[in-house]
Amino acid sequence: MKHLKIDISKVTGFVSEDTIRGYEDKVMKSNKTLHDGSGKGSDFLGWLDLPSSITEEHLDDIKATAEKIRSVADYVVVTGIGGSYLGAKAVIDALSNSFDFLQNERKDPIVIYAGHNIGEDYSYELIDLLKDKSFAVVVISKSGTTTEPAIAFRLLKQLMEEKYSADEIKERIVAITDAKKGALRTLADQEGYKTFVIPDDVGGRYSVLTPVGLLPIAIAGHDIKQLVEGARFMEEQTKPGTSFDENPSAVYAATRNALYNDGKAIEILVNYQPKLHYLSEWWKQLYGESEGKENKGIFPASVDFTTDLHSMGQWIQEGVRDIFETVVSVETPNYEVKIPRDEANLDSLNYIAGKRVDEVNKMAELGTLVAHVDGGVPNIKLELPKLNEYYLGELLYFFEKACGISGYTLGINPFDQPGVEAYKKNMFALLGKPGFEEETKAIRARLK
Ligand code: PA5
Repeated sequence: MKHLKIDISKVTGFVSEDTIRGYEDKVMKSNKTLHDGSGKGSDFLGWLDLPSSITEEHLDDIKATAEKIRSVADYVVVTGIGGSYLGAKAVIDALSNSFDFLQNERKDPIVIYAGHNIGEDYSYELIDLLKDKSFAVVVISKSGTTTEPAIAFRLLKQLMEEKYSADEIKERIVAITDAKKGALRTLADQEGYKTFVIPDDVGGRYSVLTPVGLLPIAIAGHDIKQLVEGARFMEEQTKPGTSFDENPSAVYAATRNALYNDGKAIEILVNYQPKLHYLSEWWKQLYGESEGKENKGIFPASVDFTTDLHSMGQWIQEGVRDIFETVVSVETPNYEVKIPRDEANLDSLNYIAGKRVDEVNKMAELGTLVAHVDGGVPNIKLELPKLNEYYLGELLYFFEKACGISGYTLGINPFDQPGVEAYKKNMFALLGKPGFEEETKAIRARLK
């Protein structure tokens, strides 16, 4: 059976194989430190063995809950921000029909998102959409106190109370939060919502393989057992007992650290499948929030090719040479479409008539690879055999593991996010939140 592969052959013209090998000991040690639990942030290592520790009963409970939601609602609003929605959206978008939301005859509910912004127009349009639709809400917040999802949930709950009885509401709301703490836990217990727990030792951005990701993915009609199976394979493959060359997360971590220390401060995650746009958004959060601290860290950026070759392509080809690319390449598409022959041939495309669209995509990928490498951009390639649940499970765990290893190799704590508090403190002060009086005075003075 095929698995995710990493190819760093187009990096070695920039940093030598020996230089990358020079990181072998460090990344192997970082991996061991993760598994020993002896490094920074070791209270948040629950994600490490999540795939192998998820029980059949737990998965069945998630699937049964998903079935209930699917049976009552045409629209399901996943309400959460950051790690509390990006993993679910990444997987759902990657696996769903691109035009699914436009189909009239649907077997799956439409999954939409709220609580990931504070846009008033977005809030209005969401409520306006749902007022005459059958809907359910999966509200997700580990802390249970995050402002964005809390505002959205207030609005959604108010709409539910206008439309449904108390018993109906209980069938239509699922809360995923801490086992004991937080406002969402208190409310869920008070109202009798079905709940799932985000384990204490799993941080938001590492939580896609908990109910945070698995419930929305199951509601959207995708096979969460296969997703977990793929992640299990990668968990096994990236254990400290595996050699450096056989451990793709270790190779990725070593390569990106070697590039970083050679002046490549920006990593661009590239895909050639529009369905992977949100996988990049998930990856950006994972790496950005994990590594960007103590004035260190690779800046994670992303592009969708070939679309963005017509916007960002120029910069990547000829801009500041402080970037490298990591390309997620899907070997075989799920469907086959061939380019038709045209008698008039006004567009001169008959030279590719009869070829699959994917063959053109692959040649664009290859042509871009050569052009960018020639232009001074090192290229890491991640090859996925197919876009399905199993391989996405491999990819998610691969990235999580590589992020933990990379972070330790960089010397920072990849499991906290102290910098995120700064904007919150100022926002609360400006809004006049009780308890923030001193901060209010200080920020008002700053803004004079
Ligand atoms: O990775 C993280 O910890 C964060 O991005 C959180 O996921 C995000 O801030 C949402 O937090 P919460 O789930 O507590 O509402």
